Amino acid sequence: MAYSDKVIDHYENPRNVGAFQADDEDVGTGMVGAPACGDVMKLQIRVNPATGLIEDAKFKTYGCGSAIASSSLVTEWVKGKTLDQALDIKNTSIAEELALPPVKIHCSILAEDAIKAAVADYRQRRGEAIEQPVCSPAAA
Ligand code: FES
Repeated sequence: MAYSDKVIDHYENPRNVGAFQADDEDVGTGMVGAPACGDVMKLQIRVNPATGLIEDAKFKTYGCGSAIASSSLVTEWVKGKTLDQALDIKNTSIAEELALPPVKIHCSILAEDAIKAAVADYRQRRGEAIEQPVCSPAAA
């Protein structure tokens, strides 16, 4: 299977490889695995609390060339975005940008899932999470 030029470019010159301190309160970390192949992707965002914008992102991916290219691409795409805008990034856009063949679509899904996990982690750590059901005290 031939990789597209864009996949090869990201694979050979991956952007934003690395990691932030996981205990930095401005960082959200998403770690996801692909059941289909066992590949693993860790993607981190660092958010500017004053603006709410993602100011930096890093990744480490143990996986195929398409997974590495997908994660490299999304670390570029999320920079400067709000959390909600980052959640709007779809794997179909990643697959289209990288011209991934059908057999490699799950690699782009991994990148979308990693962003979602990183945003959820950030929100949870900041206490912004996730609507909890309201429990009313039982009537005496
Ligand atoms: Fe599984 Fe690419 S082959 S992430």
